[in-house]
Amino acid sequence: MNDKADETALRAEMGRLALPGIRVGCRIIRDGDEALLLPEEAAAIPARHPAARRASGTARALARHLLALEGIEAVPIGRSSAGAPLWPSGFVGSIAHDEEMAVAAIARRADTLSLGIDTEPAEPLPDDVASLVAIPGDVLAGIAPRLATRLLFSAKEAVYKATYPLDGEVLGYEHITVDLARCEAVTANGRRIRLSHSLFPRIVVLAVAT
Ligand SMILES: CC(C)(COP(=O)(O)OP(=O)(O)OC[C@H]1O[C@@H](n2cnc3c(N)ncnc32)[C@H](O)[C@@H]1OP(=O)(O)O)[C@@H](O)C(=O)NCCC(=O)NCCS
Repeated sequence: MNDKADETALRAEMGRLALPGIRVGCRIIRDGDEALLLPEEAAAIPARHPAARRASGTARALARHLLALEGIEAVPIGRSSAGAPLWPSGFVGSIAHDEEMAVAAIARRADTLSLGIDTEPAEPLPDDVASLVAIPGDVLAGIAPRLATRLLFSAKEAVYKATYPLDGEVLGYEHITVDLARCEAVTANGRRIRLSHSLFPRIVVLAVAT
């Protein structure tokens, strides 16, 4: 599948993920996308590898596009000292990028407490990482075994991104129990997070705290 077809297919899949009031999107990372960073955004991520700056540029341009659909134009999306994106007043959101694609989700704070999003290639997780991710309470019902642990990994990262802005706690994989049959996760400090996901053409997980 070429890049454009991949983006089109993923956009269609992601349309299924969003709950009412949540806008989601995806965008291929292209050469030169670091130039999409607004000056305030570039200043917030000064010491990064060029590929990371490029991906941040793609993701922030995408997130600003989603905000513009809500009437919020050209507002910089900063970065906290902990790495969390900083959203304009009244909004919550999340961004993620793998090597090829950026994804983003935004919502109004009045409707949604916090959001987390993650994306991963639809490929098995390397064994050394896989052994760290699963805990006994995780339920992966109905997911092809080849991708189940990668999906679990992505779900836990999305949950972390949704909960960190609320609790300021650095969670490990062992602190998040995922039940894909119930489409939810529970953290060690008791937060219950709603999950939705797609597997193809890429894994994307959206985590919603309400
Ligand atoms: C947040 C984290 C999970 C991101 O994972 P990643 O694979 O490096 O990168 P992704 O592309 O998926 O996401 C990157 C985006 O996450 C967001 N992010 C980073 N730290 C965040 C935090 N503390 N809270 C919420 N979002 C955060 C940023 O928007 C970042 O984009 P940017 O770098 O362009 O600003 C990782 O950087 C991290 O901080 N891990 C520590 C905790 C952990 O890994 N626990 C085990 C999993 S639960």
